[in-house]
Amino acid sequence: MKTNRWISTFCIGSICMTCGIGNLAGAVTPVEARVDSVLRLMTLTEKIGQMNQISNTEELTGQQIEYFDTKELIKGGHVGSMLNVSGAEQTRRYQEIAVNDTRLRIPLIFGMDIVHGFKTISPIPLAESCSWNLDLIEQSARVAASEATAAGLHWTFAPMVDITRDPRWGRVIEGAGEDPYLGSAIAVARVKGFQGDDLAAHNTMAACAKHFAGYGAGEGGREYNTVDISEQRLRELYLPPFAAAAEAGVATFMTSFNELMGVPATGSSFLVRDILKGEWNYDGMVVSDWSSVAEIAVHGVAEGKSGAARLAVTAGCDMDMEGHCYVSELEDLVRRGIVDESLIDDAVRRILRLKFELGLFDDPYRYCDAGREARETLSAEKRDAVRAMARESIVLLENRDGILPLSNRYKNIALIGPLADNPDDMLGSWCALGNGKNVVDIRQGIEQAVGESATIHYAKGCDIESDDRSGFPEAIRVAKSCDVAVVCLGEDRFMSGEGASRAKITLPGVQRELLQEIKETGTPIVLLLNNGRPLVLDWEKEHIGTIVECWQLGVEAGNAIADVLFGAYNPSGKLAMSFPYTEGQIPVYYNYKNTGRPYEPEMRYVSHYQDCPNEPLYSFGYGLSYTRFEYGAIELDSDTLVEGNTLRVTVPVTNTGNYDGDEVVQLYIRDVCARVTRPVKELKGFEKITLKKGETRSVVFELSLPDLEYVLADGRRVWDPGMFEVFVGGNPDEVKKAEFMLVAK
Ligand code: NOJ
Repeated sequence: MKTNRWISTFCIGSICMTCGIGNLAGAVTPVEARVDSVLRLMTLTEKIGQMNQISNTEELTGQQIEYFDTKELIKGGHVGSMLNVSGAEQTRRYQEIAVNDTRLRIPLIFGMDIVHGFKTISPIPLAESCSWNLDLIEQSARVAASEATAAGLHWTFAPMVDITRDPRWGRVIEGAGEDPYLGSAIAVARVKGFQGDDLAAHNTMAACAKHFAGYGAGEGGREYNTVDISEQRLRELYLPPFAAAAEAGVATFMTSFNELMGVPATGSSFLVRDILKGEWNYDGMVVSDWSSVAEIAVHGVAEGKSGAARLAVTAGCDMDMEGHCYVSELEDLVRRGIVDESLIDDAVRRILRLKFELGLFDDPYRYCDAGREARETLSAEKRDAVRAMARESIVLLENRDGILPLSNRYKNIALIGPLADNPDDMLGSWCALGNGKNVVDIRQGIEQAVGESATIHYAKGCDIESDDRSGFPEAIRVAKSCDVAVVCLGEDRFMSGEGASRAKITLPGVQRELLQEIKETGTPIVLLLNNGRPLVLDWEKEHIGTIVECWQLGVEAGNAIADVLFGAYNPSGKLAMSFPYTEGQIPVYYNYKNTGRPYEPEMRYVSHYQDCPNEPLYSFGYGLSYTRFEYGAIELDSDTLVEGNTLRVTVPVTNTGNYDGDEVVQLYIRDVCARVTRPVKELKGFEKITLKKGETRSVVFELSLPDLEYVLADGRRVWDPGMFEVFVGGNPDEVKKAEFMLVAK
């Protein structure tokens, strides 16, 4: 009786005072003291219950592998967190069970994939990354967090920070593309956006760096496939964004589905225990991916659920998402002495710490506020922020004929293609509670933008993916009758995302044929692309002079696209991931190594293809503007950089075209001779600037030792004295160059 009264007191928020440990503050942080005071009360069963996460069975984001009675599980103290429950009322109902009907009244954490918005859907993360605008990206995550927390959510399974070089992999939509430097900067921006500087604030939520690690390196771009990468590449390419997220204070990590060096990541002590919790000293919580604890046995390195649970908990995976292994096996493993209870305590401590930091012990219903939910959802401010993000995410790939921006001499505009009048596919994959009804699609956006000044003539032409050509004649008739044809082609939103690898990444169905026939009419074409990954656009690049990569831009897609088409916004996006000429070139990326036989034209015994260039069709860092930017010579403040000092790199950039515009000024280096081979170019700095037409501005970068270091396979960061090249330009292939020597003190 006495214990019960005590417990109910701490759950309404005064644990330190009630149990008399307030005095310990100073020796231990208050949160740690509070965590310990709860942990001390818990039975082994209750502890293991905290390590179990189950999904709302009506909103699954994975294969359900076990059936259960949700309410009974919560009542029994067997659930620490739920995913895929949302809405102030619905989360309150489940929270009430945890808080009123369990012995210890520990609140649940509600998590969901708020990857690019909750209802006010913003561009897919790959698109946002093409803005290179860290402030806007941070703001976009903040918008998502404030809307999602108003719907009762505490925790997003984002950002996805997997570096990838394979556009066949459907999950490229969720990340920041191919480069570890840009990827790290964006990871930090997203973490800051979701979490703010106070997790307990009503409009911030815990973020989750996923998927740890190497998931983007699946062989052949095939989802969930085997990964085999060297430790050096792991540390140099795949781990930096995770390290950056950890450094930025990301509250949680999620393990990945893939194996790495023969061990499934969820059971990899090397990854989680040694690197994350050891080397990086990470004190946040680690959740498995959906059923990835159970899948350890399917990979074939553990027997059954028991073996899988033992491996995962030993590796340092604190919470089992929909794997049902911890809740059924851990108690027995501890009782038999196979798993040490201190491992369970460590995991539970991390989970409780997060609950305290989110303020859930102080008020378990702090995020269940139906009034705030109504005010926040799809608010005008949020839509404005998403529109600003969306137009900066667009990448102008071609404007050879100078058709864009569309002037008012085009009085009759043909709008053709399966993505033209299509709100749903603007949302992209992982669109949480996004709904096509809230989307301004391309047709609406363009119609609103032109008003009475032009007439839009629409024809669908064909489906996204079918061989039906019956819509061609009407599309051709419409194209012939107009001054310009805006042709909207691409992928539907289920063609990328989880479980959505494609071996062929050209435009699906008969879309290219439709484009070819429209081209025959002679009407000028503007090709708008909506897709979740880089595509193979070799024919399109050769034959269509105006191509705009619009990705999947969310609820404001049509407005953002119209802003760019008619010149209200001058496009400034630069690709975060390279586009290949053909699938046979994959992986293709800008930061390749020299090899011992670098390419030389006309030579046979050099590294090349006989039937395709080495370089990408459109490279990482590439993107055009309606204006032109000219780069002056690089000025270095010294031709040597002495260890411990800083080198200033100054470049004048002039807007020599006819429009005001934004430019992403990019700085790359090359370490000419090191103890391991280095890429021919590595991004080490960028700045997005605005220049009025005719304006010149000097952009200054500072380089110091950390920019010139690299990681060895054993994790050591090292540098080598000697020659470095430094390049500055608007993309990695059009740069000014200078050289300096790095010397020891
Ligand atoms: C599986 C996905 O890999 C992961 O990214 C996601 O967070 C979970 N399912 C939960 O939906």
